[in-house]
Amino acid sequence: MKLILLGAPGAGKGTQATKLSQKLSIPHISTGDIFRNNIKNSTELGKKAKEYIDKGMLVPDELTISIVKDRLMQDDCKNGFILDGFPRTIPQAEYLEKALNEMGTDIDHVVNVSVADEEIIKRMSGRRVCTNCGATFHTVFNPTKKDGICDNCNASVIQRDDDKEETVISRLKTYHEQTEPLIGFYSKRGKLLTVIGREEIEETSKAVIKVLGV
Ligand code: AP5
Ligand code: MG
Repeated sequence: MKLILLGAPGAGKGTQATKLSQKLSIPHISTGDIFRNNIKNSTELGKKAKEYIDKGMLVPDELTISIVKDRLMQDDCKNGFILDGFPRTIPQAEYLEKALNEMGTDIDHVVNVSVADEEIIKRMSGRRVCTNCGATFHTVFNPTKKDGICDNCNASVIQRDDDKEETVISRLKTYHEQTEPLIGFYSKRGKLLTVIGREEIEETSKAVIKVLGV
């Protein structure tokens, strides 16, 4: 299955994509995670991306598209994939549509995880991510078993640099201006499925599984 998870920053795309990727045995591709790994390793791509990410802006389309292009060519994407955080602009969505059509395929479904802005601001302040494996937790909604330590790999969990309140507010603005129009783009193509991102992560998972019929 070829899926896109759409939604505002902090809507729960990463949380749901991780679960779905395990359930469906298809790779989870997060452009945000790819950028963060590059920042951690101080690559050229990481240095460029950081300038935008720290301001709550989008990384330019050319850069983002080229990393997704490379990733989708890898063997493990043959039977499907879950895109988390891509596409985020109409030109990215148009590129993806064209690239998949050239490979004789298309996206099956786009799941839009819908959450109000107020709830998002609350969630971001409590988010913690593992410095080693990237797993995501929340101090209240999904706490680690041991304080500050990742459940999966025992490395330390920290707050993301772009989760400061002022950056979250500018990420939300960017989302409304540049990414929200994708709801109309995919709805016109008959691909859009909407799920309300509820307070309980498990409830949201059940709703995602239900709309996808998996
Ligand atoms: P990216 O990493 O994609 O960030 P984002 O879209 O802002 O989304 P987040 O990862 O912040 O949130 P999420 O929806 O994955 O939520 P999560 O599951 O963690 O991108 C980062 C930056 O990279 C962008 O700002 C941009 O600059 C750049 N970038 C990336 N892709 C790009 C592209 N295509 N083009 C251009 N630039 C790009 O959940 C959030 C928190 O809430 C967690 O703590 C979680 O535990 C908790 N939570 C999750 N679900 C629930 C629930 N149902 N109830 C309660 N808590 C919940
Ligand atoms: Mg994420």
